[in-house]
Amino acid sequence: MRTEAELLEAARRYSFGGRMDKSGGGPIFVRGRGSEVEDINGKRYLDFNSGQMCAALGHNHPTITAAVQEACETLIHAHSSFYNVREIELAERLAGLMPEPLKKSMFLQSGADANEAAVNIARKYTGGFEVASPHVSFHGMSDATRALTFAGWHAGYGPSAAGTMAMVAPYCYRCPLAQTFPDCEYACLDTSFELIDAQTTSRPAAVLTEPLFSAGGVIEPPQGWLADLKRRCEERGMLLILDEEQTGLGKLGSMFAFEDEGVVPDIVTLAKHFGGGVCISAIVTSAEIEERATADEFIVTHSHSNDPLACAAGVASLDVVEQDGVPEKARRLGGYLKSKLLGLADRFELIGDVRGRGLLQGVELVRSRESREAATEAGPQIAAQALREGLIFSVRREGSVLRLVPPATTTEAQVDEAIEILAGALGQVRMRG
Ligand SMILES: Cc1ncc(COP(=O)(O)O)c(C=O)c1O
Repeated sequence: MRTEAELLEAARRYSFGGRMDKSGGGPIFVRGRGSEVEDINGKRYLDFNSGQMCAALGHNHPTITAAVQEACETLIHAHSSFYNVREIELAERLAGLMPEPLKKSMFLQSGADANEAAVNIARKYTGGFEVASPHVSFHGMSDATRALTFAGWHAGYGPSAAGTMAMVAPYCYRCPLAQTFPDCEYACLDTSFELIDAQTTSRPAAVLTEPLFSAGGVIEPPQGWLADLKRRCEERGMLLILDEEQTGLGKLGSMFAFEDEGVVPDIVTLAKHFGGGVCISAIVTSAEIEERATADEFIVTHSHSNDPLACAAGVASLDVVEQDGVPEKARRLGGYLKSKLLGLADRFELIGDVRGRGLLQGVELVRSRESREAATEAGPQIAAQALREGLIFSVRREGSVLRLVPPATTTEAQVDEAIEILAGALGQVRMRG
């Protein structure tokens, strides 16, 4: 086995950069199980980033690996214009989890291509083309989804697609309209739709949103926001596309986040832990929307659309979600993690806000609780120190938000260990000025 230094040297020469972490250093991972991963030096880490959020059911879950092995012995890939058994099974299983009328599914590879397809379905269905998304959203890094990703990552890519509009997100801790919930009565939606109505060419198609904004800084809309958004979409003939790629399938403590809001969206997209670490995404919609879109020659197909191996992993991931009781685990463990993070907030003035639901929790860091000035230099220091101590998580909003996404396999003892590391790292932060 080559050493870490040798592999990093090879990576410097041959691996394309363009990653969120610009350090170019280690760790280099070799294996994972449950909530832990191990690097090439044998050092173990608690993975509170769930890989790239895709191992939220636990790394190398035996149910997933068995399904993949079985697919390797039967059929890995198939002609995507014909059906295969696993694909039909997966669509049937998803229909069983979704409420009426969301019963039709298609399977692609990434979160971005599912969102892109969903937007194009909405365009075909409505005959419009304009799509709006909140200003802290993240929907992917294809050209089409980057144009609807307002949390960042735009600089230097040239003009965005026409017909994409930003809305004012319900970021209550830093309300852009200086309002307070519930007195605001969703002023962010009033302003957003005033702007949408002013800009539209009378061809609106959809609003694309996450139910809880993950990459944008773990920002949770207030109760009722999603229902009000849906009502305003309906008034304008716009579809509501809900990107549940991070939040769906149990992560927040319910099977889908929209259930908590009593809202049924028109189109739902799934990815990330759907597939249990294997690359697959889904678009789920109603038969009515599917029929009208396909009648207007809607086609989306990629080389690996509906692949049996990926669909087998998809079925296995639904087995895990149901058999392991992931929503209930997320509620319980998420509550425990939240209580521990609130405990840290009692000890460290640097913590301005603790928020999130289930196994998606965020900590916002501030220079002062009064001014709420973002402590952007603190997050990277904390993450680097935690990494040295064996805890992985990500940092968002230019460094001022810590995002913690422990897999559903995490134990309370592992949460305690993570909190101890986090406390140590918080205690070592050095602020400028
Ligand atoms: C909410 C959400 N949507 C879409 C995506 C894009 O998914 P992918 O990276 O699989 O294209 C992400 C990725 O982080 C995401 O968090």
